[in-house]
Amino acid sequence: MKKISILISAVVAVSIMQLKAQPLPDEIRMNQFIKELMAKMTLEEKIGQLNLPGAGDITTGQTASSDIGKKIIEGSVGGLFNISSVAKIRGVQQVAVEKSRLKIPLIFGMDVIHGYKSVFPIPLGLSCSWDMNLIEQSARIAAQEASADGICWTFSPMVDISRDPRWGRIAEGSGEDPYLGSEIAKAMVRGYQGKDLSANNTIMACVKHYALYGAPDAGRDYNTVDMSHQRMYNEYFPPYKGAIDAGSGSVMASFNEVDGIPATASKWLMTEVLRNQWGFNGFIVTDYTGINEMIDHGMGDLKTVSALALKAGIDMDMVGEGFLTTLKQSLAEGKITMDQIDAACRRILEAKYKLGLFEDPYRYCDLKRPATEVYTDANRMQARKTAAHSFVLLKNEGNILPLKKNARIALVGPLADNRLNMCGTWTVAGDFEKAISVKDGIGMVTAKPELITYAKGSNIVADSALEARIGMFGKATGWDSRPAEIVIAEAVKASQNADVIVAVMGEAAESSGESSSMSDIELPENQRNLLKALLKTGKPVVMVLFAGRPMAIKWEHENVPAILNVWFGGSEAGAAVADVLFGDVVPSGKLTTTFPQNIGQVPLYYNHKNTGRPLPEGQWFTKFRSNYLDVSNEALYPFGYGLSYTGFTYSDLVLSSKTMKPDGKIDITVRVTNTGNFDGEEVVQLYIRDMVGTTTRPVKELKDFTKVLIKKGETRNITFTIDIEDLKFYNYDLQHVAEAGDFKVFVGGNSRDVKSADFVLTE
Ligand code: BGC
Repeated sequence: MKKISILISAVVAVSIMQLKAQPLPDEIRMNQFIKELMAKMTLEEKIGQLNLPGAGDITTGQTASSDIGKKIIEGSVGGLFNISSVAKIRGVQQVAVEKSRLKIPLIFGMDVIHGYKSVFPIPLGLSCSWDMNLIEQSARIAAQEASADGICWTFSPMVDISRDPRWGRIAEGSGEDPYLGSEIAKAMVRGYQGKDLSANNTIMACVKHYALYGAPDAGRDYNTVDMSHQRMYNEYFPPYKGAIDAGSGSVMASFNEVDGIPATASKWLMTEVLRNQWGFNGFIVTDYTGINEMIDHGMGDLKTVSALALKAGIDMDMVGEGFLTTLKQSLAEGKITMDQIDAACRRILEAKYKLGLFEDPYRYCDLKRPATEVYTDANRMQARKTAAHSFVLLKNEGNILPLKKNARIALVGPLADNRLNMCGTWTVAGDFEKAISVKDGIGMVTAKPELITYAKGSNIVADSALEARIGMFGKATGWDSRPAEIVIAEAVKASQNADVIVAVMGEAAESSGESSSMSDIELPENQRNLLKALLKTGKPVVMVLFAGRPMAIKWEHENVPAILNVWFGGSEAGAAVADVLFGDVVPSGKLTTTFPQNIGQVPLYYNHKNTGRPLPEGQWFTKFRSNYLDVSNEALYPFGYGLSYTGFTYSDLVLSSKTMKPDGKIDITVRVTNTGNFDGEEVVQLYIRDMVGTTTRPVKELKDFTKVLIKKGETRNITFTIDIEDLKFYNYDLQHVAEAGDFKVFVGGNSRDVKSADFVLTE
């Protein structure tokens, strides 16, 4: 059926601000307080609030901060970030509230990305749990620990959609899907901010990197981004908006350009979309020296780019001091207005007010809290459980897994005994020396520790210069300088009497993350050589794969009988790996990014368009169709994929109706049966395809999912209810509409293997 009319439309440009209710009494009190405070502030003190120096050891940009103490006393600092320890933070806060003229407290930020000292899996791993409670809980614990140690603001959640595994920061996000990404963004914000931002155990979220940072050309970090507005609104914006809808108190601008203008200077992004369309009323901080970098983008000198950023709607300048050093002059020259400075200053003060810092600047500085609230047994147990739920079982031929607890295991590989690399990227507060390695974890869970033999078998990469580059931030990989053959021979020897070989391989923690893009995402050849030697022994081999990105592991898929992808599981990673290897936890993670067969297929994602020349279903290659000569269009492992130790079958779908009225609903029911020998959790996924539209529509889009525990032998009826909201998209005019016509609904355990049914949306 042809769609002819637009049923629901909402003009995107309508300002939500105009629709806002009257201010609450709390807000009135806050406004009054801030008005009185600002009346006392000099121009310099107002500009000072917009300045955010970095105080930590990590310098990611072109400059580092200096003279911070003096500037705090002068009133030239609004906050600081990446200082660890409550004692230090208390001391610095004391300088601000005792020695500066107006005694305005500082806000203390940190990259608390996946946990604080109890480190949770990297966000990409966390997303593979598809478990919103676990994800929210991970952010809750991170907030609890960070706030006990003086932090009240985190630069998280990072919600950049990415379809490019070359990009190292794919590790920090939730994968490729806008709907799942948006649900995760909301869960994280809820976890950090709780119900009351002024409570001493909640912290302010900062959703980043707004916007489109995950789509750099060629997957190279910081590179140019260019995409259509339809793609932005439908595919890349939803997670940022999700975080805003959940109340994220702040937003971080991204480094990249959007429509030819660096995001930091984009009034369209910062004011029109974020504030006017989405109703955001918190503050916006740049990324690290994001203003200064606009000089290299070719936007002008520091004074020019600082004025551009302020006018776009940026409130706080991270590290670069463009605001601090040039805004006064720009004001004198009439390039910016006092109103613009006031608006930015007010937003920073509001954030401090909402965090309760004016009431008590030491709210997050209780020196006694860390001893009982940080890195506690309970938090570590939760991190261990979460890690086990983030792992994705990619292959398990002959049910090699789970292992018997009395098995003789040869534990080999460069990541088997490697505590420093368990936590993954971005762990500012983590004590990764204390992390549980796989060797430690197996030792804890096996019944027969004496039957475990160990050998390293290989370095992570063959090139020592590359190995040094990925051994950043104190996460040395432990370089073995002996000839590779000798190291491999040692591993083969260690495997001689084993029942099974567990090969712990993959990437180093800092092979992914910021400025860690890779042009080759296969398992390094030296590790593959080790695998070949291990396979030659004829013993069953289980590959435990550490990775911060989807790797192109076609050869391993074809040759290794069992593969467990464990991302970087955090401080308890090794214990969680052992829990899953021995079957104490049945794997239930599902991929949130597509694993390509090879790098040439990238970007490869499930929710693509059909094109005018799609490859006929079931075919590998057809001339003059959209395909490659040398590789099929298929993913190695599709979005949503992940095995269990048990098996699940899906019945055909039953729809409560074959038609939906614009104000109606349809229930879609499927029976899912656990056919194996273990109780197991299954992520049941619902996708929709809009068959005909006024613009082209993806072949499938995730619209709902549920994670359910199904006991062995049991069948569960799963019912999803969809309504018109699930059918809406941003059309050519960027109106959010649903168009009448034919739809397909799919339900399955991944995006490829699904049951389907048709329905019609009537006018
Ligand atoms: C990163 C941000 C981070 C900031 C502060 C930047 O280089 O892009 O994600 O929050 O540094 O550490």
